[in-house]
Amino acid sequence: MTKFRVLITRQLPEVAMHAIREFAECDVWSEDRPMPSSVLSEKIAEAEGLLCLLTDRVDAALLSRAPRLRVVSTMAVGFDHVDLAACSELGIPVGNTPGVLTETSADLAFALLMTAARRVVEGAEYVKNGLWQTWSPTLLLGQDIFGATLGIVGFGRIGQAMARRAQGFGMRVLVCHSRSLPDDVLQTHQVERVSLETVVGESDFLSLHVPLTPATHHLINRDALSKMKRTAVLINTARGPVVDTEALCQALLEGKIAGAALDVTDPEPLPATHPLLSLRNCVIVPHVASASIATRHRMALMAVENLHAGLRRRCLPHCVNPDVYQ
Ligand code: DGY
Repeated sequence: MTKFRVLITRQLPEVAMHAIREFAECDVWSEDRPMPSSVLSEKIAEAEGLLCLLTDRVDAALLSRAPRLRVVSTMAVGFDHVDLAACSELGIPVGNTPGVLTETSADLAFALLMTAARRVVEGAEYVKNGLWQTWSPTLLLGQDIFGATLGIVGFGRIGQAMARRAQGFGMRVLVCHSRSLPDDVLQTHQVERVSLETVVGESDFLSLHVPLTPATHHLINRDALSKMKRTAVLINTARGPVVDTEALCQALLEGKIAGAALDVTDPEPLPATHPLLSLRNCVIVPHVASASIATRHRMALMAVENLHAGLRRRCLPHCVNPDVYQ
């Protein structure tokens, strides 16, 4: 039986590669960096399926070079790197990997909150640099998490998982969400729903969990940062451009907010000379919120399921442009 031809833009966990080889001939980009767009647009010409990552831009220009493409499957929950309208226009379904990374991503968001609050990175560097001489009543004082107010912007799956973690720390949780939310979701998570202005102004820790859309681009801008408490910490595990990087840099430098803990940045990655990297009060990790072994395996397998369904012209189990089936 002839196998489908698929383009895979990075080496995936072996369990997923094995599953794909059962039904497809794979062209896999073996380097551990994004496939250059010129290579992608050349290789896409033959592909019936594309399994891509959030580092690949799938836009109308690329799709115009993909006459045989039946499906785009991204190994991510976020799909801001894919032009959905262009895919729908061409009848190409797009799959993502929701749900399986929720708890892992919330773990990292909460870890960043704790790291920033208790100055864990500074403490570790202090010890490594041989500066630890004695116990001191004033050394590396941080902020309490217990009893503090956590603000969650975007109360979807990951935002809700963050709230569950906050409950265990006795936090007051304020949430802001752009769409309707059933009352029982608020009750179950013991959270108060407030406006963006209130969540920004009253939170000790402000954690972002919105997708990147035109409406959320630079949602946290100079104005929002100026309304935060001077003692507040911003946590971003959503997408870099949800925060205006220049405004954040300035707010951190001028002490308008106490700190930031970022899993995502804009640009991503940050150049080595970027001013954010020299700030003591800014902790940055390299977009690893979903990076547990088990979760990455689940994401890869889910991406394979979407790919397989699309190649066979069946409905994708997790389709983000269902209008394509109308
Ligand atoms: C996603 O899936 O969108 C995350 O940002 C990476 O796991």
